Amino acid sequence: MTAFESMEASLREMEVSAKEQIEACNSPEALEEVRVEVLGRKGKLAQLSKNMGTLTHEQRGSVGKLLNQVKGVLETAFDAQNQRFATAVLQARLEREWVDLTLPSRGPRRGSLHPVTLIQTEIEDVFRSLGFTVLDGPEVETEYHNFDALNIPPHHPARDMQDTFWMTNGTLLRTHTSPVQVRGMKQLGPPLRMIAPGRVFRNEEVDASHEHTFYQLEGMMIDRDVSVAHLIYFMKTLLSEVFKRDVTVRLRPGYFPFVEPGFELDIQCLICGGSGCPVCKQSGWVELLPCGLVHPNVLRLSGINPEEWNGFAFGLGLTRLAMMRYGIDDIRHLLGGDLRFLRQF
Ligand code: PHE
Repeated sequence: MTAFESMEASLREMEVSAKEQIEACNSPEALEEVRVEVLGRKGKLAQLSKNMGTLTHEQRGSVGKLLNQVKGVLETAFDAQNQRFATAVLQARLEREWVDLTLPSRGPRRGSLHPVTLIQTEIEDVFRSLGFTVLDGPEVETEYHNFDALNIPPHHPARDMQDTFWMTNGTLLRTHTSPVQVRGMKQLGPPLRMIAPGRVFRNEEVDASHEHTFYQLEGMMIDRDVSVAHLIYFMKTLLSEVFKRDVTVRLRPGYFPFVEPGFELDIQCLICGGSGCPVCKQSGWVELLPCGLVHPNVLRLSGINPEEWNGFAFGLGLTRLAMMRYGIDDIRHLLGGDLRFLRQF
């Protein structure tokens, strides 16, 4: 065998064995190792081409051609095998991440009404069915509507009962919904049945049962010969509608300058059943419904003749009521904005 023939033979042989090696590879890493071994700078092909020095000029030409041919064939084989690996990886990924596009979507998550809103609309419905009008009033109020017109003159100690947020221009954030009584009397005149739910503000230290911002629902009825018996009837109707079960209540005398006589209607704490918890401050009772007969001065200040008309008023603690109703043991949940809390309603 001439040197030329033996070179040609070993090239062919190398081609065949390299192809087998390529096909036997089962990972891109293994393939890369074979590629370096065959086509690398110090690889088999490079070794063979070194032997060309022993050949004649013409022989060198044809062996060179053959070398290039084999190199081309092997490169193609490597590329093809790499392509197979890439396809397999893609295929596996497609199977893993398969999504059924024909499935209907889940749709946007529905919001829910805030517990205070739920209870507010429920109470509005009760009172509407009893002939009451639902009124709205401003949250930024004048001193006149929040205090003076409610028989709370300047420097009266009752002003200190409610820690007020004052605005720099002399207006204030209403400390109760009672100013809407004043607006209702002026707007509608007697006879009058109105309620006014809304947000009120007090400069209070926040804890489990106190917030600087909470909700009340004011109520007022003015007619001829309204008595405490009417007041009690409406309050009982209200509470039995809201709780849909018997609740234990008690009536205590209470002082508010805009009612005479004034009462505090308490309900037995529904969180602890009366045994004492943070919401009822361990007393077993929750102040829920301050009320009373409208003071003659209040009627007079709003242009209603107390000789002819009288009435009752109440200021229901909506926030507390919602806590009792839904068993919420910390008032801070209500304005906390935590969706995990709100989604329960
Ligand atoms: N406005 C009073 C308060 O928030 C409550 C109240 C309303 C009392 C109506 C009597 C009558 O403290």
